[in-house]
Amino acid sequence: MPSSSDERSLVLIKPDAVRRGLVGEVIGRLERKGLSIEAMVLRTMDGQLADAHYAEHLDKPFYPPLRQFMTAGPLVAMVVAGDQVIEVVRALVGATDGRRAAAGTIRGDLSLSNRENLVHASDSADSAKREIALWFPELG
Ligand code: PPS
Repeated sequence: MPSSSDERSLVLIKPDAVRRGLVGEVIGRLERKGLSIEAMVLRTMDGQLADAHYAEHLDKPFYPPLRQFMTAGPLVAMVVAGDQVIEVVRALVGATDGRRAAAGTIRGDLSLSNRENLVHASDSADSAKREIALWFPELG
């Protein structure tokens, strides 16, 4: 049951997860934890949205392959809500590199990569606000 103290996070189920048929697996883990999905869309990110979403990484050496990967096929974008949802989702998702992520996390159980790592989740309340405005401007 949503509560007024709930936080929001922007979660992307990345193109590798869609391609591998893991959308239900990822959503199931979030739902079983008790989190709520407030908005959800299947969409292919274009380069302009990628550059805005990953603005802080534009100059990093890993950005060109990340941009290529994230714009290559459909992904699922969601707004997820719940008590301390940002921290809770990042714990469920696990460390960036799937080879090093703890067993029991989504990446630790299902990914062997730091690029094709299945899920993006907002890393702070400020990031969540910015990212939700980019992906779901209608939510204000
Ligand atoms: S940083 O520099 O510590 O803030 O970066 P990090 O949080 O580890 O990663 C930010 C996003 O970049 C992706 N990433 C990569 N993509 C492609 N190639 C390489 N080598 C690579 N390393 C990191 C990583 O999956 C993060 O994506 P998001 O969507 O934010 O999870």
